[in-house]
Amino acid sequence: MRLTDIAILNYRSIRRLSIPIHPLSVFVGENGVGKSNLYKSLSLLRDAATGVITRTIADEGGLNSVCWSGIRKRGEDGRLRLSARFDRLKYSIEIGFPSPVAAAFAGEPMIKAESIEATEGRRTVLLMERKNSLVSVRGETGAWSSHKDAVLPSEPALAGFSDGKECPEIDLIRNAMLGWRFYHDFRTDPASPIRKPCLAITTPSLSADGSDLAAALATLYTIRGDATDLHEAIQDAFPGAELRAWEQGGLCEFDLQLEDMPRPFRAHELSDGTLKYICLLAVFMGYRLPPFIALNEPETSLHPSLLAPLARLIAKASRRADIWIVTHSEQLMEALRSESSVPLRRVIKAKGATAIEGLTLGGEYRDAESEDDESEDDDS
Ligand SMILES: Nc1ncnc2c1ncn2[C@@H]1O[C@H](COP(=O)(O)OP(=O)(O)OP(=O)(O)O)[C@@H](O)[C@H]1O
Ligand SMILES: [Mg+2]
Repeated sequence: MRLTDIAILNYRSIRRLSIPIHPLSVFVGENGVGKSNLYKSLSLLRDAATGVITRTIADEGGLNSVCWSGIRKRGEDGRLRLSARFDRLKYSIEIGFPSPVAAAFAGEPMIKAESIEATEGRRTVLLMERKNSLVSVRGETGAWSSHKDAVLPSEPALAGFSDGKECPEIDLIRNAMLGWRFYHDFRTDPASPIRKPCLAITTPSLSADGSDLAAALATLYTIRGDATDLHEAIQDAFPGAELRAWEQGGLCEFDLQLEDMPRPFRAHELSDGTLKYICLLAVFMGYRLPPFIALNEPETSLHPSLLAPLARLIAKASRRADIWIVTHSEQLMEALRSESSVPLRRVIKAKGATAIEGLTLGGEYRDAESEDDESEDDDS
């Protein structure tokens, strides 16, 4: 199931945004306009599928910190609302403060509502509805069955409730969201797990912290047996260099032989930027690409000479997965512009709220129509 668009309401500086998802989405903007908030709101949505969404909000400082704190229209409840659409299916979640009777702990974020709806032609049919702790599911015949106290007030039905027979869409959406991957910086300090050998476990895609980097690389060499793509990508970034990854005694390791050096360097000897770039290689060239990959400022600590190879990696990977990048690097933006015809989106702030230039309230880019015209011209 492909993610087609997302909607965010009242998350930090994001007052209201509906954003279509394309194979490659690049958001660029100055400091403080809300790029990381865009990235974090998506990651928060995934936390509905893992079941930890209310904990993440508490970790981020609680609802008072996380909900839009700007001016609200009279009568608006200010609840945090997130939704994801997968072609004909749409999942939504609404989070607010608990009522005094429902609260296990005062101030704890509570899930007020959740829903799954299906669009069939012009009709929208509700398939699952959660109000506080009551989950209702519409069966095949159209009859509703209700499950009282099926979930805790702080627990998303998407993670905590399953009714495969009556509502397989819950499992479908949860599984689709569990496949999303988020990468925000990789620790490269001397004690970072990325610099140490890791357990030899088949690793089709890199974990969020990159701690299984050696296993992700060794998986390519061992299982695919063909690392030509990886070799070419290394050559593109570090001309004359060679990357090797292997398993020994239940652990995976890798090293990088640089041109003109008498011996290869292991992970603990590589520079921060080199190691980080190898992490990005593993993200974009993994054995299996996750369906949706979001990155927050992937260019951090990379030398400008690596931005063009990075842009090539990103453009190539966007043929196999949907990629979402937020950056404040004009150089990365320029490099992406020359590697891909995808329009880059500028994030701005208007009256304290995050906005995306050219994006309508209905969630479409104003230039989309003219792009379609252009591609038709290209084809002819
Ligand atoms: N609850 C809130 N309500 C409204 N605005 C908020 C809220 N919480 C944070 N902000 C605003 O969000 C902005 C920070 O957003 P974010 O961290 O996403 O910026 P950024 O574009 O990633 O910046 P940088 O390039 O520096 O990383 C700040 O201006 C802050 O004032
Ligand atoms: Mg940021």
